[in-house]
Formats: sequence, C-alpha cells, structure tokens
Amino acid sequence: MKINFTDFRSEFKFFEKDLIKKFKLIGRQGDFILGKELVKFEKKISKFLKVKYVLGIGNWTEGMIMSCKALNFSKDDEIITVSNSFIATCGAIAYADCKPILVDVDETLNMDVNFIEKKITKKTKAIMPVHLSGIPSNIDQIKKIAKKYNLIFIEDAAHAFGGTYKGKYLGTLGDIGIFSLHPRKNFHVLGDGGLIVTNNKKLYQKLKLLRNHGLKNRNSSITWGTNSRLDNIQAGFANILLKKIDKLNDKFYDIANYYTKNLKNYVQTPIFEKKISKPTFHQYIIRTKKRDSLKKFLFKKGIQTAIHYPLPIHKQPAFINSYGKIKLKKTEVYSKEILSLPIHNFLTKKELIYIIKNIQQFFKKN
Ligand SMILES: Cc1ncc(COP(=O)(O)O)c(C=O)c1O
Repeated sequence: MKINFTDFRSEFKFFEKDLIKKFKLIGRQGDFILGKELVKFEKKISKFLKVKYVLGIGNWTEGMIMSCKALNFSKDDEIITVSNSFIATCGAIAYADCKPILVDVDETLNMDVNFIEKKITKKTKAIMPVHLSGIPSNIDQIKKIAKKYNLIFIEDAAHAFGGTYKGKYLGTLGDIGIFSLHPRKNFHVLGDGGLIVTNNKKLYQKLKLLRNHGLKNRNSSITWGTNSRLDNIQAGFANILLKKIDKLNDKFYDIANYYTKNLKNYVQTPIFEKKISKPTFHQYIIRTKKRDSLKKFLFKKGIQTAIHYPLPIHKQPAFINSYGKIKLKKTEVYSKEILSLPIHNFLTKKELIYIIKNIQQFFKKN
C-alpha cells in the first residue's frame, strides 16, 4: 500500500464542480482584486470566529510583517517566540527589523511559559506563541504575563483555524491572530493566502491600509504600505471550503484520536489539555527515540511521513548569522524524536489501520 503524506488531488476532485462554478462566476464578473468574494469571506470569518475585524491577506508572513509595522515596532524591538516552528515565525520578525527572542518548549511542543519572564527586557514588545499543529499554547499564562509587562500578545495561528481553547477560537484570544491559508493547512486556499484577525479597531484600520499601499481611496495614499491582498478568486474558493470546515476539522480530530488510542503504548502521542482545548491536528506528531529507524521502516512499507521541524530555527544559518548560537535544550532533544504521521481529509480507515499496524509491528521487533 502507498500512503502519501498529503492528498491535494483528492480534495480538488471532491470540490471540483463547485470550484469551477465559482471560478466562472468571478471570471465573468471580472472581479479579481478586493472584490465581493473577499468582502463576503471576511464577514463570514468574523462571524465564524466571533471576532470583530478580519482581513484577507497574501500570506501569514506578510501578515506578521505588517503587524510589526502597524504596532509601530522599531529596529531591534524584541518579540518572544519559539524555535520549534517553520522558519517564517522568526523570518517575518527579522524582516520587519525586529529581533526574535527564543524560549524553549515543553512536552506539548509549545512555548514553555516558565521561561518567558526571564527573557523580558526593556526592548521586549510582544509575545508570540505558535499553536503548533493546532494544539493551543498556554493562553491564560501568556495573557497574564503580557498584561503584567504591558506586552502585545500575537498568536501564530498558522496551524490553528477552528481550534479552540476554553470554548473560544484560537487566533482570537490575543491582540492579533494571524492564520496561514497555505494548501497544507486544514483550512486553506489553492495557493498562498492568509488572515489577520483582531478586536482592535485602530489596529484593523492601520492593517487595512498597509495591505493596500496605504491607499484610503483609489488615488490617495496616507502611509507607506505594501501589496498583500487575498485574491478574490482565492477568497471565493475559501468561501466554499468554509462551509465544510467543522466537518473537516472533526475528521482530523477523529483520525488523531484513533492514532492516539492505538499508539499510546508504543510512542509519545500528542500532549494537550483535553478538558479545555480542541486542537485542529494540522499535524499529528509523535515522539520516539527510534524516530529515524521508524521513519525508514515506514518508508519501506510505502508510508510517507514528515518532520516538523528537523532543524529548529535557532540552528538555521540565517538565525546564527544574525544572532549567534543559543541553546534550547528540549527543542533540540525533541527535534530528533518528532515524527509527523499522515493526516488529511482523504485518509481512509484502511490506510489508517495499515499505518498503525506497521508502527506496532516496528516496536514489537525493535
Ligand atoms: C507556524 C507557521 N507560521 C507561519 C507560517 C508561514 O505561513 P505562510 O506560508 O502563509 O506565510 C507557517 C507556514 O507553514 C507556519 O507553519
């Protein structure tokens, strides 16, 4: 049996009719930039996430760069975040001329809140946890620290659309939440895309200007900005997907539970506070000291796996060249133990059982 890590083609096939219908509709309207579908999308997201203001943008990375500008962060201002993430988490901070200050993670693979206060300096402006694989970070504790030191709380919610913490949607719990709509995310478009959400009207108004060259109307620009608008066609596709997002996220959640039930005696399965959070499981990440041999074994059995992330950001040349070498004990240990198993909407029960059987078999032999 051959099991791919992702299956974009099946999803396209599933939505094909509706997507083509939408493509034709928008094409015939000739409505491509800042169009009706985008306005509709932003309204729908605002209702869905129960957040006041929403902006469809080019991608997460631009959303973070614009957020730093909108918040008036200046050169070398510090943002506390984590290293166990995609490079963009720190890349966007550095690109906005600010400095990422990295803290270690705990066994949830999210920010260890016990290290935050030690890293706060006069230059600290914000804390930005990553809800890795859509598992909520320790929101209450981070909020408390942000309030105590008067810091902005930004959520890297790239993996987290539809996930909840104490009944509220991830991304809506801090001052700003930024989502990626990259095709690999549970909720996504058919290319690059992103979302910024906030309940702060002033911030929203600034960000709205920044995403479109500071233009307050067609011919008058009141501040330097950039071009980071979610295409109307992509927004149209997202409006189709949004109707199914609860069902889609439930499928991820069910697959994750099934993995956990059957693998918990063999590997470290994802750790999260079940009573107060519902993760999206954008990735299903296990931990084992035998990671490399398990990965090879599964590959031979036709099962594709991935590692999120093999080289933590503080080990990347880009980081070392700018800020030198630092040590993050758990992040480094875990980076050698983590393995992401296939999880997507078109994974069949038969495939799931095949993956589980093979993992169990590996551990019985090794
Ligand atoms: C945690 C995290 N943050 C940020 C990003 C960047 O998102 P985008 O590709 O939309 O810029 C990603 C993308 O994979 C991510 O995984």
